[in-house]
Amino acid sequence: MSSYDATYAAAQAAPEEYWAAAARAIDWDRAPDRSFDPSLGAYGRWFPGGRLNTCHNAVDRHVAAGRGDQPAILYDSPVTGSRATITYAALQRRVAKLAGALAALGVGVGDRVVIYLPMVPEAPVAMLACARLGAVHSVVFGGFAAAELAARIADAEPKVIISASCGIEPGRVVAYKPLLDTAIALSPHKPLACLILQRPEQSCALTPGRDRDLLEAEAEAPPHPCVPVAATDPLYILYTSGTTGKPKGIVRDNGGHAVALHNSMGLLYGIGPGEVMFTASDVGWVVGHSYIVYAPLLVGATTVLFEGKPVGTPDAGTFWRVCAEYGVKAMFTAPTAIRAIKREDPEGKLLAAQDLSKLGTLFLAGERCDPPTAEWVAALLRKPVIDHWWQTETGWSITGNFRGLGLFPARFGSGGKPAPGYHVAALDEAGQPLPPGATGTLAIRLPLPPACLPTLWQAEARFRQAYLETFPGWYNTSDAGVVDADGYVSVMSRTDDIINVAGHRLSTGAMEEVLAAHPDVAECAVVGMKDSLKGQVPLGLVVLKSGAGKPEAELVRELVALVRDRIGPVAAFKDARVVTRLPKTRSGKILRATLRRIADAEDYTVPPTIDDPAILDEIEARLRAAP
Ligand code: COA
Ligand code: AMP
Repeated sequence: MSSYDATYAAAQAAPEEYWAAAARAIDWDRAPDRSFDPSLGAYGRWFPGGRLNTCHNAVDRHVAAGRGDQPAILYDSPVTGSRATITYAALQRRVAKLAGALAALGVGVGDRVVIYLPMVPEAPVAMLACARLGAVHSVVFGGFAAAELAARIADAEPKVIISASCGIEPGRVVAYKPLLDTAIALSPHKPLACLILQRPEQSCALTPGRDRDLLEAEAEAPPHPCVPVAATDPLYILYTSGTTGKPKGIVRDNGGHAVALHNSMGLLYGIGPGEVMFTASDVGWVVGHSYIVYAPLLVGATTVLFEGKPVGTPDAGTFWRVCAEYGVKAMFTAPTAIRAIKREDPEGKLLAAQDLSKLGTLFLAGERCDPPTAEWVAALLRKPVIDHWWQTETGWSITGNFRGLGLFPARFGSGGKPAPGYHVAALDEAGQPLPPGATGTLAIRLPLPPACLPTLWQAEARFRQAYLETFPGWYNTSDAGVVDADGYVSVMSRTDDIINVAGHRLSTGAMEEVLAAHPDVAECAVVGMKDSLKGQVPLGLVVLKSGAGKPEAELVRELVALVRDRIGPVAAFKDARVVTRLPKTRSGKILRATLRRIADAEDYTVPPTIDDPAILDEIEARLRAAP
């Protein structure tokens, strides 16, 4: 039996024992009564009765153990030309003082703090400062527009917001303060105070009576100790796209998260204390929460915080330069980033110029990885390239390949085998497991392992309806895919209206709500169209109200601007077409899957339920014509 098979089988046979052993690697102020209580919450809760502090586990205990002088965070910012090394001792000082500043503003256990920051050291410092107080952070990605930030402020109801004067995108400075002010004006809930990081690239005027300079507040505050909280108390809320315009607030608890993420570092990534991990994502996404901030720090490793892009900052060799310079052992990014690098440096000359002898593994996730991309980078690196599948909801990998268990042979196109603790199956529409190799909805047998969401923020009914009700006894991932006879899982597409643009998860339903708000639009559909760089990009199809006679190019410009203004540049909504009708079933449901096939120039069969088949030819002609 392989090491993977044995560990997987042990976790399946005795999950409480498996996770109790993992929990012993964490410092507890009070040990849990048991690993799992099936009677609590929607499907049970992990580590009830336990009390701990996540910041203590990620920072203070490493200082106490003598790692104070070791780098915790290596900040590398090619967009500003700055770098910094933050040791564990320095991180502890900063986090404790910022926690003190938050406490002085009245933030305590259970209070929410929204963090709207670019990739600067203050982002992990702010997250950890909240964790230190037992407060609940909610980080919002910088590429979202004010309205999206407002929706998150309205839902999370933060006492305090931590933000910055600006973020830096290649070629432009993104002023955060106007976005923040607009969001606060739009939200029915108002924070008591804002702490603003003034960046040297562009400062901003502080709003009197509400805003304080973050660095000044931190400098003046007394250090605050770690406050133990219940293992089942929330550590953070991270909003992710649902099928409607209202984002879902994924809740992460303290105990299960600390245990599972700590466990994942050795198991999946092969990273231990003192080793360097580079996750090229953003703290606004779950990958950033888990593998830029929490997991590397929970094991006492060093994490690279990179403020830049895979290409253009300054070139397609920037990731490899970071790996070489800091002795990175595990790197993690999205396939899109590798496609972008491949496009600029197809022969890998910039990669060959770097000493990557310390790099052990490249991990990919965030979207389906097309085999040619994985093969290209694996051939150049001559190191294992591991695709692993997960979601904001799970917080860590559902499937993968396991450095800590000896790797099994990779099969590009598959996300590997289930991580110990997950029982994955492809189900048919009736919720029955399909035979190996058949495509179905991928589902995880309940209970979900530690770190996975216990609920949605103040939306228990939505949690049950979105994830638990379709297949009783299972968590519905809303991903379609296959489990083969050897246990490899391949994720093919979503079963809902979510699209994946450059590794970013976006709701077409949310974009449709924006397009429908344009005064000339009678109805619309947004579908994800294949894109060689970003995987998918959104395409809008709109039917005009009678009498709306604006030139199409002008209307499309307005629609593009509207989506950018309401959802944000990250939506990458750049293309829309006017059509006379949308294809629908006789009961009025828009045939989005057929539209997507037409947009991708794939063969399609005319759905038998279609109301008016002639419309498909018209749309095909419309999409083949130049925009
Ligand atoms: N703040 C403000 N704007 C942002 C932003 C941020 N934090 N992040 C992205 N944007 C903007 C970009 O400037 C761009 O705006 P534009 O339309 O004016 O050019 C838009 O959002 C789309 O950004 P992006 O998805 O980064 O596309 P790009 O064309 O600029 O770059 C890639 C293409 C492939 C280099 C880029 O998508 C990439 O690095 N992808 C990897 C994604 C990733 O790490 N995902 C995390 C999941 S693991
Ligand atoms: P997010 O919640 O933003 O992390 O996005 C999660 C979604 O991204 C999943 O439900 C999948 O649709 C997709 N995804 C993430 N990782 C992979 C992967 N390795 N292979 C295929 N799809 C993936």
